[in-house]
Amino acid sequence: MHKDCERILLNEDELRSRVKEVALEVDARYQGKRPLVVGILKGSIIFYSDFIRHLSCPVELDFMVVSSYGSGTVSSGKLRIKKDLDKDVAGRDVIIVEDIIDSGFTLANLKALLLERGAASVVIVTLLNKKERREYDVAPDYNCFDIENEFVVGYGLDYDERYRNLPYIGILKREVYES
Ligand code: PRP
Repeated sequence: MHKDCERILLNEDELRSRVKEVALEVDARYQGKRPLVVGILKGSIIFYSDFIRHLSCPVELDFMVVSSYGSGTVSSGKLRIKKDLDKDVAGRDVIIVEDIIDSGFTLANLKALLLERGAASVVIVTLLNKKERREYDVAPDYNCFDIENEFVVGYGLDYDERYRNLPYIGILKREVYES
């Protein structure tokens, strides 16, 4: 385990089996369809790549980078898009793949935006869900793990752009982000 982690919350086996289980559920829903799978960078990158490998339906891949400074007390009330989709979502079945839902700001706004652009459907798949932090009205359609309000890193998630490459989800030591 990395020295900056207090403990491992979800190990590689737990991640592998739950991600597969959820992906197969999602896959069953899209038989005969061709969804556009939208990854929200950067945090979702590892989850996204593991998730899509369990889909048997034909998929198209696309990505967005959005700012999440709406969470907490300072809210712009509007999503800032740093990198938009390449594809037109009008008439498409969209699957949004996220690493974590915290306040819900990002996904509440993103889902509304994609529906406004004419998506036929928008389904949210998340790896982690911090329910107790929710401030905006949004719920995942598929969620791999409910977690407590802990500072988690690894499997795509960062603190100050570090730890994304850890193969497990760890709880960061308090002294690392409080120093
Ligand atoms: C994180 C995460 C979500 C968002 C969740 O992104 O990936 O997009 O915050 O928070 P919310 O529910 O309060 O909106 P972050 O801005 O940390 O970027 P990253 O994915 O590049 O790490």
